[in-house]
Amino acid sequence: LRHLITLDGMSRDEIVALLDLAQFYARTPGELAARDQTLAGHTVANLFFEPSTRTRVSFELAAQRLGADVVNLDMQSSSRVKGETVLDTIYTLQAMQADILVMRDAEPGLPAYVAKYVAPHVCILNAGEAHLSHPTQGLLDALTVRQAKGDFSKLKILIAGDISHSRVARSAWHAFTTLGVKELRIAAPEDLLPGQDEFKGAERFTNIDKAISGVDVVMTLRIQRERMSGASIPDEATYHRTFGITAERLTKANKDAIVMHPGPMNRDVEIASDVADGPQSVIQRQVTNGVAVRMAVLATIARNVQARRHFQ
Ligand code: CP
Repeated sequence: LRHLITLDGMSRDEIVALLDLAQFYARTPGELAARDQTLAGHTVANLFFEPSTRTRVSFELAAQRLGADVVNLDMQSSSRVKGETVLDTIYTLQAMQADILVMRDAEPGLPAYVAKYVAPHVCILNAGEAHLSHPTQGLLDALTVRQAKGDFSKLKILIAGDISHSRVARSAWHAFTTLGVKELRIAAPEDLLPGQDEFKGAERFTNIDKAISGVDVVMTLRIQRERMSGASIPDEATYHRTFGITAERLTKANKDAIVMHPGPMNRDVEIASDVADGPQSVIQRQVTNGVAVRMAVLATIARNVQARRHFQ
């Protein structure tokens, strides 16, 4: 692994290796925080051109816990707002020896484009790309499901909400299908379901009550109004009544089903507040796993950076 742009095309073995390493970090965070120096001598730069709480902070903590130097660019006050191109920003950081660049951007294709132009020892990690890809989120979701439920080949998983605009749904679909999920369902109001050319193999629903019936995992998603133009979305109260994950609706899933949400949540819109905080919710576990997964990705990438430096 050099760059992490997408989970599309990543093998089952590669994903399992990352999850296994993340599981190791998830079990021993306190001890490792004091001792692990896997990333000593590396500089991780966080470049978030879209808002983030979980992903940015967890990349920062993950890098620090592995002994890296970390810089967080405040993109509102970076030179990009003065017209500097993203590549010139990247070259500037590269010239200051930043070698792992974590990027979030609303423009599709930007991480792959930047990855083509960076120096051979520099790595690009996609921390959220438009509606297309959020690979570390897909990995942390897979880790959370694996911890709670084990074998994917026995699981029925539902992803519900604004599928059409969701990079989280796309990366989760890649992870879950590569890991051999038994059945994947996607459910959204008609306007928020993606075209048939996407989410191959998933069963599609526009009725949430049918979709949730008998599943082991319910992942619900925020409506991404910032990515919409023209979709007709009901008001929040109507959406909650017709599509929200409520305690009553959750009884239709398997009794031991887990409830997931990538955050940020809109309580009592896509998910009822009592469900978000209830006994079946693993939402906080997802956040905790985010640090471990990002440690695993950074450690794996760093091994390859060292190898390339060695041969330069
Ligand atoms: N899940 C997720 O990407 O959250 P943030 O936008 O807070 O990073």
